[in-house]
Amino acid sequence: MSDSPSIKVTQDGPYLVSGGAVLLRQTIGINADEEAVEWDEGAEVAAPTKYALCRCGHSSNKPFCDGSHQTSGFDGEETASRQPYELQAERMSGPELDLTDAEELCAFARFCDRNGKVWNQVDHTDEEDVAETFVTQVNQCPSGRLRAWKADSDEAIEEDLPQDLCLVEDPGEECSGPIWVRGGIPIEAVDGETYEVRNRVALCRCGASDNKPFCDGTHAKIGFKERD
Ligand code: FES
Repeated sequence: MSDSPSIKVTQDGPYLVSGGAVLLRQTIGINADEEAVEWDEGAEVAAPTKYALCRCGHSSNKPFCDGSHQTSGFDGEETASRQPYELQAERMSGPELDLTDAEELCAFARFCDRNGKVWNQVDHTDEEDVAETFVTQVNQCPSGRLRAWKADSDEAIEEDLPQDLCLVEDPGEECSGPIWVRGGIPIEAVDGETYEVRNRVALCRCGASDNKPFCDGTHAKIGFKERD
């Protein structure tokens, strides 16, 4: 059995995490204009080598599962596409860099919005400062909805991320967010199929996404909070 971190989605139940995956906190840092500007890395959360993370949003022991899914009537059916990212995404071409966008994967972290939005920046990526900002903002997207590429190439510009699971807090929206899975940790569906392994993935932990197991931003609409 492999020692590498992995995640298993269970039927109407939690995420089973194995392989000693580090669990830590990440907060969306905002500026005076309330724009998402940086990830503030927080403390590591003590966890054993194997642990179960709440997926229904009802545990009294979040981020861990306490069995509440069994009494809350949680329907955890996975509805997300199994198609590879590149088949889901639309590609926009710029002079030096391209952008791909798989909108279904949006986790509403909003790093894409500042500096006039990445979708507008892409047309100006022959300007060095714009290109730099563009790549930074695209790589801050936790769900991997957005990806930057060298123009007209299959060379993606992805940061090297550690393999860990990050519990997102979003003070700008006064809510908690998804589990940001970094560094290409495999995620196995209930039926045993493994989702495409990606560098940045956002898993729903509020229980309300319409794109399970992935986050679709609904946590902000419902004001999901890990703790009261
Ligand atoms: S955590 Fe984002 S939709 Fe559930």
